[in-house]
Amino acid sequence: MRKQWILAAVFAVATLASLAFVEARENGNPAVAGDDTEAQAAQAQASFDDPIAFPHDVHVQEYQIDCQYCHFSVERSSSAGLPPMATCMGCHAVVDGSENPEEVERLREFWEEREPIPWNRIYKVSDHVQFPHMRHISAGVDCATCHGDVEGMGVIEEVEQELTMGWCVNCHVEEQASIDCAVCHY
Ligand code: HEC
Ligand code: HEC
Ligand code: HEC
Ligand code: HEC
Ligand code: HEC
Repeated sequence: MRKQWILAAVFAVATLASLAFVEARENGNPAVAGDDTEAQAAQAQASFDDPIAFPHDVHVQEYQIDCQYCHFSVERSSSAGLPPMATCMGCHAVVDGSENPEEVERLREFWEEREPIPWNRIYKVSDHVQFPHMRHISAGVDCATCHGDVEGMGVIEEVEQELTMGWCVNCHVEEQASIDCAVCHY
C-alpha cells in the first residue's frame, strides 16, 4: 500500500515535471520550418538567442580543438561542463574574428565586466533523471550519436532528438546496459 502511494506520487511529480519541461522547450525553441539549412541555422541561433554566436565548426574543424579541451569534465563526471571564459580568453585576448569580429568584442565585454556568459542550455533532462556522461564516454558511445555532427555546425543546433525515456531505454536494451529504474531515477 505504502509503495503504491510512493509510486503514484513519483508519477504525478514526474508528469508535471515533464510537462513543464516540454513547455519550456516549446517556448525557448519554436519549431524550425523550411528546409534551407542556412535559414535554419540562423533561426536556431535566433530561437536559442545565445549571447554570442559561438561557431563550433571554426574551433573544432578548422582549428582542431578537441571537444574535451572545452567540455572538460565529460570523461569524469555526469556533466560535460562548459568552458570558463578564461579558456576562451586564452586565445581571444589576441585572436580577433575575421568573419564576425563583433562577436569576439562581445566576449571581451563579458570578460571585462566579469560577468559569466549566460549561454542557453539546449540539452536537459528533467530533474528526476540522472544522466552520467562519463559512463557513456567510457563505454565508447560517441558524442555524435546523441548530439549529431556538432563539429560541422556553426552556431549549435539541437538534433532531432527528444530526450525521452524510450530513447534511453531502447539503446540500453541494444547495448545491454542496465534498465533498472533506479539507475536513471533518483
Ligand atoms: C572552444 C571550445 C569548445 C569546443 C572545442 C567544443 N565546444 Fe561544445 N560548446 C562550447 C560552448 C561555449 C558551448 C555553449 C554555447 C553554445 O551552446 O553554443 C557549447 C555547447 C555545446 C553543446 C550544447 C550544450 C547544451 O545543452 O546547451 C554540445 C552538445 C556541445 N557543445 C558538444 C560539443 C562537441 C561534441 C564538441 C567536439 C566535436 C564540442 N562541443 C567542442 C564550447 C566548445
Ligand atoms: C585555442 C584557441 C581558441 C579558443 C580556446 C577559443 N577560440 Fe574562438 N576562435 C579561435 C580562432 C583561431 C578563431 C578564428 C578567428 C578568425 O576568424 O580569424 C575563432 C573564432 C571565434 C568566433 C568567430 C569570430 C569570427 O570572426 O568568425 C567566436 C565568436 C569565438 N571564436 C568565440 C569563442 C568563445 C566564446 C570561446 C570560449 C568558449 C572561444 N572562442 C575559444 C580560437 C580560439
Ligand atoms: C548517450 C548520449 C550522449 C552522449 C554519448 C553524449 N551526450 Fe552530452 N548530453 C546528453 C544528454 C542526455 C544531456 C543532458 C544531460 C542533463 O540534463 O543532465 C547532455 C548534455 C550535454 C551538454 C550540456 C552541458 C552539460 O554539462 O551537461 C554538453 C556540453 C554535452 N552534453 C557535450 C557532450 C560531449 C562533448 C560529448 C562527447 C565527448 C557528449 N556530450 C556525449 C547525451 C549525450
Ligand atoms: C546510444 C546508446 C545510449 C543512449 C541513447 C543512452 N545510453 Fe545510458 N548507457 C549506454 C551505455 C553503453 C552505458 C554503459 C553501460 C556500462 O557501463 O556497462 C550506459 C550507462 C548508463 C548509466 C549507468 C548505468 C549503471 O549501470 O550504473 C546510466 C544511469 C545511464 N546510462 C542513463 C541514461 C539516460 C538517462 C539516457 C537518456 C537520457 C541514456 N542513458 C541514453 C548507452 C546509452
Ligand atoms: C535508461 C534510463 C531510464 C530508465 C532505466 C528508466 N527511466 Fe524513466 N525516464 C527516463 C527519462 C529520460 C525520462 C523522461 C524525462 C524527461 O521527460 O525529461 C523518464 C520518465 C519517467 C517518468 C515520467 C513520465 C514520463 O513518461 O515522462 C516515469 C514515471 C518514469 N520514467 C518511471 C520509470 C520506471 C518505473 C522505470 C523502471 C521500470 C524507469 N522509469 C526506468 C529514463 C529512464
